[in-house]
Amino acid sequence: MQKEFEDSSLFKLSHPFLMVKSMDIAIITGASSGLGKVFFEKVVERYPALDEIWIIARRENKLKELANQYSDRNIRVIPLDLSDTKSIEMFDEMLKTQAPNIKVLINNAGFDRAGLFREMSRKDIYSLIDLNVTGTTMISRCCLPYMNKGSYQIITGSIGSFAPLPWRAVYSASKAYVRFFARALHEEEHKRGVNIMLLSPGKMDTEMFHQNSNGGGNMDIQPYLNLNQVTVKAMKRAEKGCATYTPMLFYKMYRLIAKVVPSALLVKFISVENTVPRE
Ligand SMILES: NC(=O)c1ccc[n+]([C@@H]2O[C@H](COP(=O)([O-])OP(=O)(O)OC[C@H]3O[C@@H](n4cnc5c(N)ncnc54)[C@H](OP(=O)(O)O)[C@@H]3O)[C@@H](O)[C@H]2O)c1
Repeated sequence: MQKEFEDSSLFKLSHPFLMVKSMDIAIITGASSGLGKVFFEKVVERYPALDEIWIIARRENKLKELANQYSDRNIRVIPLDLSDTKSIEMFDEMLKTQAPNIKVLINNAGFDRAGLFREMSRKDIYSLIDLNVTGTTMISRCCLPYMNKGSYQIITGSIGSFAPLPWRAVYSASKAYVRFFARALHEEEHKRGVNIMLLSPGKMDTEMFHQNSNGGGNMDIQPYLNLNQVTVKAMKRAEKGCATYTPMLFYKMYRLIAKVVPSALLVKFISVENTVPRE
């Protein structure tokens, strides 16, 4: 382990004379592709002392493929739809039964649909809010009681939370929720030594980006992030207790602009940028 966590694991009393140490685990949601998949690979490398790594997404076959690449490690494949409250309840029960010590939580699963809001299907609107808002919140709620001093959680937000995004109205609103949620949790949890860090990535070459690139709007001026660099830096910063991480100078500048320019004005500029015709 690059940086040893403080040993503050919970101990289960399974017998009056026998104290059993809880297993140390990492949990990654949205691990079947994109950013979550790279997070999983970096967690495997960075924390060799973990007893188990739990990976969550809907596509079980993808998760199994990933787990098979690391046969020397205990990878638990957990196929769940995190937009479904029944899945959240099952996950909660699993945690109650195992009572692990969650050292690392990468709360990352997310969904995006670009396009005019009035044309968006009701199903997509519900799925987006159920996953990005409710799922992200409830994963945190289920896990935090099993996180102890020295543990951290990275919550994946988006630069889409810095200002309202036309053609991504529901997505940017959901990530604005995530930003407020993560920052508030940071203040609540750092007092007991659990760090909550908001990661706000810009454009990434993942399934999500490609599924949405024709939905309207224009993201051509935005540079792609390097997922290997982003994930390792994010983990280093989370270990140090940072509250936020926005990778790349280009997006840091955007965050700064969004802080000083009123959102009523910024949204007009984003609208203009978004209506530039595609080639
Ligand atoms: N790509 C970008 O440009 C970009 C920019 C800023 C922020 N982000 C954020 O980065 C995070 C990761 O996205 P990505 O870019 O890596 O996209 P991705 O490749 O599409 O990954 C999304 C992950 O979430 C999982 N997921 C989706 N719906 C789920 C559900 N209902 N239940 C459980 N898991 C579900 C997917 O797995 P299954 O399909 O197998 O369930 C997949 O593993 C998201 O929170 C996204 O909002 C992305």
